[in-house]
Order: sequence, then structure tokens, then C-alpha cells
Amino acid sequence: MPFNTKQTPLFEGRNSSPKYDFLNAVEMLPKIDWNFKDFNTQYLSHTFHSYPARFIPQIPLTFIKLFTEERETILDPFCGCGTTLVEAFLNNRNSVGNDFNPLAALITKVKTTLIDDAQFRYFNRKLAVLKRYLVLDSDSWRVNERTNNLPNRKVSAVFSRKVISKLEAIREALLEVKEEGQEDLFDFGRVALSSTVWSLVENGGGRGGGRGSGIEVDDLFLRKVKFMEKEVSKMATLVPGPEVRVICGDARKLNLQSGSVDLIVTSPPYVNALDYYRIHMYNMLWLGMDFDLFRKHEIGGHSHFISNRFRLLSEYLGDMLRSMIEMNRVLKKGKLCVIVVGNSSVEYELIESHKFFAEMGEKRGIGFTPLKTIFRKIDKTRKYTSADVGKIDDEYVVVMRKVKDSEVAAGDDDFISEVVSGQMTRFREQIKKVQGTSIRGRSGRKPTKERLLKNIDKITAAIETIPEDIKIK
Ligand SMILES: C[S@@+](CC[C@H](N)C(=O)[O-])C[C@H]1O[C@@H](n2cnc3c(N)ncnc32)[C@H](O)[C@@H]1O
Repeated sequence: MPFNTKQTPLFEGRNSSPKYDFLNAVEMLPKIDWNFKDFNTQYLSHTFHSYPARFIPQIPLTFIKLFTEERETILDPFCGCGTTLVEAFLNNRNSVGNDFNPLAALITKVKTTLIDDAQFRYFNRKLAVLKRYLVLDSDSWRVNERTNNLPNRKVSAVFSRKVISKLEAIREALLEVKEEGQEDLFDFGRVALSSTVWSLVENGGGRGGGRGSGIEVDDLFLRKVKFMEKEVSKMATLVPGPEVRVICGDARKLNLQSGSVDLIVTSPPYVNALDYYRIHMYNMLWLGMDFDLFRKHEIGGHSHFISNRFRLLSEYLGDMLRSMIEMNRVLKKGKLCVIVVGNSSVEYELIESHKFFAEMGEKRGIGFTPLKTIFRKIDKTRKYTSADVGKIDDEYVVVMRKVKDSEVAAGDDDFISEVVSGQMTRFREQIKKVQGTSIRGRSGRKPTKERLLKNIDKITAAIETIPEDIKIK
């Protein structure tokens, strides 16, 4: 039985087999109200963990319902906290999620793993022991020992010693669960722990005087576990549990068989917007994850090329082109690849990523035909923000169809370099005509005309270094 959330009338009364053939389904796309204003986006396991720049579940849900049948396979190569996979799961489709961020892979796995009552009873017995221990006087918490034994000492600069001791006690209890062979419960508990760390960081980390100092860490964690348990139990009554595979890997080199996927729905990182490794640093440290490796391979990050930010753009375009070639490789012929992305900004210039992507798809030999680009307004309450890009009010849904196998490989540096050079050259021509295209409204500091004209020289310099910049580091 497929799961029903609040949907447009389009889906009411639909049974599990598709009502539309491919062409009819494509014709339905413009009839949908893509703003999904006031729809509930937080239900079941979608609520488990915060994640920046996630998309709303109604986007993957719509494509899953229109273009796939039960037990077909949906892929999200940049799965983040697993929105696409949760929707595939709730609608009885198999799914594959890929993300280089190990925390993203963990959250996605836990959000799509059913746990039975017997396992939860075992887990609750373990937590009852932990709770009895944590209400004891703090003298018995081995504060010094625990603070000194942390996997990485940086955390002690952010969290108070009392908070560290409690978090460490929780971590140790979870390790015991793992040693007793309960891997799924171990991961379930780690997501609850990570979500607790996230709340603490958001509230001042529990350092003296910080807003988080009043927070009872154990209460926060145990309440989170209870809440998650309730949601997983609900999900178990709704779906039989289709197959799910989560890979912690690089979207530019997918560890997947060619021609094995029936639909891709994804939202890639934006250029010059968020550094996920930085955002998740404390969670990852606590979970003993290697964030340096992720930092090295993260697409769209902006902690380098400080003196010429346009080099970030050519690097990003190269990374996205490789990812698109990989998406073509793993997709079956005739199937859809859906990419959701908002505009971005580099040095006051507007970066319309959706246009770059649609153009890449059409490029010689890649094997996609762009079908449509859908514009949608992001609900006011769910705007993504980042220091460089500011608020993002709208996004674009680029819908492409695989018409043939790609003639080029994702590792073909010469091809990547040639396509990116063409795109950057056309971008420079636009900027020559008008500069400062991302400056909005009257407020805020504005750059001078001279400063903006320098962007043209910077783009020219960035074009020269493309062969180096597009190489995978
Ligand atoms: C916009 S987010 C995806 C959010 C997702 N749609 C959701 O709803 O949670 C982009 C994701 O790309 C991931 N990413 C960055 N570089 C990557 C790479 N080289 N390979 C795979 N994933 C990468 C980031 O970790 C981040 O989770």
C-alpha cells in the first residue's frame, strides 16, 4: 500500500500502478502547483535531523508517483538527509542514496531503516541504565577522563565539561549496543546523538553563560530517541520496507551499475554557498567521522580560490558536468533525471545554475534532452540562507530525459575542460554587457562600477586556469 501525504488532487485515489504513460505524465507537469504552499513537509522520519538546503518532500514525491512503479529504483546522488529516499521508501520504491558527507549517509540510512518492537525493547533497557547513571551526582561522571579522551580536542572549546561528559556517556552506551551486534540501533542512536549535538550548538553549546547551558543533555537525547521510535513504528505499519542502499561516496564517480536506475531526483550543492563540512564539523567530530576527507571532495565549497572566486565557478561546473555524465551512465534509457537548484552568486554576479545544467545536458555526446525547467517559489518559512548568497526565494526544477548513453566518460578531463571553457566564455560575454547582476533592491553595501568591471578580468584569468581547476583533487 503506497503511503498518502497531503497531495494535490492529481494524486487522490491513485492506486499503486501508474495512471499515466510517459507522455501524459510529462503533460501533467505544468498543471501542478509547484509552490506547495502550506503543505506539511515535516512528517515521519523527515523530522529526525536538521539539514541545510534540503528540498521539500513533495518534489521527489511528485516525480516518483508520476514516473515510476512500485519496486522500481530511484537514485539521489547528492542525497543529503535523504528526502528523496524517504519518499521512495514510503511509496514502496527501491532506492539508492549517495553523499560524500558521512553524516548525510548515516541520517539517510536511519530514516529508511525499520526497527522492530523487540529491538526497541532491548534499546530502552540499555537507555534506562544510562538514565540512572546520568542522574547521579556529576562527581561520578569521570569528567576529566572523558574530556581528555575525546576523539578530537576541538570540541572542548565549544561545549562545557559537564555537557561533554554527558555526551560521552551516551556515546559509550551506544558503543556497547554496537558491540552487542545491534548495528541498526547503534546508527539510530547516533542520529539521535547528532541531533542533540546540533541543538546544543544552535543554543550556545552548553558553555557557561551560553544559552545551551540550561539544557539537560540527557533529557534532550532521550526525548529525541522516544520521538524517533514512535515515527519508525508508525512507518513500519505503512510500508513493507522496500530495498534501500546508501553509499558514502563521490557523485562524480558513482559506485553503481550502468543502466540500473529508473528515476533520479536530486538537488546538488550550490556554488559558493554552503560548506557542509564546516556546518557539520561538531556532529562529525562527535561521531568520530573523518570530515577532512569530505572537505577535500566537497562540491561547491568556498574555502579556497579566495583571490579569484570565479575559479570556484569553473571548478563547480566541471564537477557538475562529471556528475551529470555519471547520472546518465547509471540511468536506464528513456528515464528522467530531475535536478533541483536555486540561483547563486559570485562577486555580485548572478549564477543561474539551472541554465548551465540544461545546457550541459544537451552538450554533444552527453545523452540527455532537456524537457522542461519548472520555476517554483520557496515558501517564506523555508528559505535557504548563506552569507555569500543571501536568501534564496525561488528554485528551478530541471527535467531531462536520457535519450542515449553518454559518449564521454566522467574522467575525461579534456572534454570537461572544453565544455567549461565554452560556458565560462559565454558567461563573460554576458557580464561584459551588464555587471552586478545579483545585486537586489536598494539596501546593503554596493560595489563601485570599477570594482564590478574588474570581474571581467577575473573571469578571463579563471578561464586560463580551467584545465588545472577542473581536475579532481
Ligand atoms: C543541497 S544538499 C542535498 C539536500 C537533499 N536534497 C535533502 O533534501 O536533504 C547537497 C548535498 O551534496 C553533498 N555533496 C557535496 N559534494 C559531494 C560529492 N562530491 N559527492 C556526493 N555528494 C556531495 C553535500 O554533502 C550535501 O548533502
